Amino acid sequence: MSRKPQPLKSVGSLVLVGAGKMGSAMLDGWLARGLSPKKLVVIEPQPSKAIKALARRGLTLNPKGKVAAAAAIVIAVKPQTAPAAVPPLAPYVGKRTLVLSIMAGRTLRFLQISLPPNAAIVRVMPNTPAAIGRGITVACPNAKVSARQRKLAGDLLAAIGKVEWASDETLMDAVTALSGSGPAYVFLLAEAMTKAGIAAGLPADLAARLARETVAGSGELLHRSDLDAAILRQNVTSPGGTTAAALEVLMGPGGFDELLAKAIAAATRRGRELAG
Ligand SMILES: NC(=O)c1ccc[n+]([C@@H]2O[C@H](COP(=O)([O-])OP(=O)(O)OC[C@H]3O[C@@H](n4cnc5c(N)ncnc54)[C@H](OP(=O)(O)O)[C@@H]3O)[C@@H](O)[C@H]2O)c1
Repeated sequence: MSRKPQPLKSVGSLVLVGAGKMGSAMLDGWLARGLSPKKLVVIEPQPSKAIKALARRGLTLNPKGKVAAAAAIVIAVKPQTAPAAVPPLAPYVGKRTLVLSIMAGRTLRFLQISLPPNAAIVRVMPNTPAAIGRGITVACPNAKVSARQRKLAGDLLAAIGKVEWASDETLMDAVTALSGSGPAYVFLLAEAMTKAGIAAGLPADLAARLARETVAGSGELLHRSDLDAAILRQNVTSPGGTTAAALEVLMGPGGFDELLAKAIAAATRRGRELAG
């Protein structure tokens, strides 16, 4: 269920591990919601200029020596980096620390084994519209996560978009296949529409602009509307008209539904394989 984003002013210290694309998007969201750089610790071998500038405003970058337990640790390194990056985080994990991992395919079990016993962990799957605060994230907690920690996780994730909770971790592979990888399917749709427009006789740059704005505008319409996607589709389809002719192909045998079902099943299988 989605909640209204909360200001993050009252959050305790926060450790971000890995400030690449997704980590930086989260960091931007937290700062925009009022989190002070003074409450932030960032562990990142190649910090961006923006992070170095934040370090001059009180953010702690790559601390050396003894560290204090954090209110929350957000792990945003690549999954293949996890075996080296996660165990050294133990000194940050106190009795009340929330650990939030956005690593694709890295299970709660992996994280539990890699971190101190009884750590409260939430495994999450965001997606790239997080970069503009319009992501959708699914969060899956382990049994140690308290109501307070769940609220903190929800507040941290709301900074990059909407949040859904799943209690069954086995759903995370399908979640990854649908919303984690989903932006790529939508961009592919824009690419395919461009190519089809060119094939239908349009100049390439015009076809690209029409496809881009059609995908973006339709996404925004879906976002703002209370109507289901199916109703919005029907609203542009007059019987016997041009849209109906196209939909007959797209919704026919071997069409969109079948292709996407196959694609999402393949991504789900791959997610399972990667998680081991
Ligand atoms: N992008 C997506 O669409 C998406 C969607 C859902 C989930 N995710 C998950 O988000 C995570 C991050 O993805 P991303 O696209 O943001 O990757 P990314 O841009 O490569 O960011 C990862 C960052 O972690 C840094 N790093 C490497 N080793 C580290 C260490 N030991 N300690 C601290 N930082 C370290 C990397 O630095 P170097 O560059 O120097 O190695 C890099 O800046 C992944 O686990 C991915 O599965 C991504």
